[in-house]
Amino acid sequence: MPRFTLIDREVEISSFADDVRRGLTAAPKSLPPHHFYDELGSALFDAITRLPEYYVTRAESEVLTSFDEEIAEAFGTPVRLIELGAGSARKTRLLFDVLRRRQPQLEYVPVDVDRTILERSGRTLLDEYPSLRITAVCSDFRDLSRSLAGLHDSSARNVVLFLGSTIGNLGFDESVSMFRGLGKALGPSDAFFLGADLKKSKCVLEPAYDDALGVTAAFNLNLLARINRELGGRFDVKRFAHRAFFDESKSRIEMHLVSREAQTVRIEALGLDVAFAEGESIHTENSYKYDAAMIERIAAASGFRVEKTWTDSRRWFADFLMRVS
Ligand code: AVJ
Repeated sequence: MPRFTLIDREVEISSFADDVRRGLTAAPKSLPPHHFYDELGSALFDAITRLPEYYVTRAESEVLTSFDEEIAEAFGTPVRLIELGAGSARKTRLLFDVLRRRQPQLEYVPVDVDRTILERSGRTLLDEYPSLRITAVCSDFRDLSRSLAGLHDSSARNVVLFLGSTIGNLGFDESVSMFRGLGKALGPSDAFFLGADLKKSKCVLEPAYDDALGVTAAFNLNLLARINRELGGRFDVKRFAHRAFFDESKSRIEMHLVSREAQTVRIEALGLDVAFAEGESIHTENSYKYDAAMIERIAAASGFRVEKTWTDSRRWFADFLMRVS
């Protein structure tokens, strides 16, 4: 039996070009955050997770390390791990370590839009974990019925992982519709394991999205550089500024790219000229910050119940185990 299989379910729900045209001709201007992650963008995000200001990844790693046995116990082994937006699976390794002590064989199903990262991290994982089998799915996890089609009708108990507070990019309604889709694909003994960044002081939140080295600024500005590379855009990246702030009333970090001056930018492949006023912004990301009650509300509205919660010692991040109710 091959230890690595890749299933390609890549559907262009909407292409980069379509999203750029729609977002930059709208008022106010915006771009969807999943386009951050081209090859350079993924490398910059990886650098972000190592920044002193970006506590998110370390806080979740602390949760997974401190409570690994308890979490595995709550999963109820043996399990098959399905991970939405798997990326490099750095945190998932912490769960492999505990699970392989409890079960001889482990099947891992990473779902990611980036085929290159699935192949690269798949190879590394197989070297590191001889008892691992990988079925990688190249797909957009927002289309769960497609991503998970045919995967849930095995005898294994599935645990779907959605780590790192990726949920933070979604508003309440979008989260509920995604979780509803997931609920339909899960059976009663399956589980959903969700990582969510918690609400905390602005003094901690804002530097995490506006770091001293300017890595997050580069990550944000790379969207414009990507338009230049892939769509013949003529953005002078230096004429835009990175802006990130916490909106208390919406409980979210907002990231923007702000035009430093009045300018018109040509995007060749779209046959489009985009006019910017001085100070006009492109809204590029929301990153919601939660408390337990907010997660309970999303779970209840989408047919899940929260079974268990774990947090790090500072209560900055939480992981929730949910089942369909
Ligand atoms: C990958 C969506 C969890 O919101 O913290 C990090 C993305 N953006 N720094 C987050 C991100 C700027 C990240 N998520």
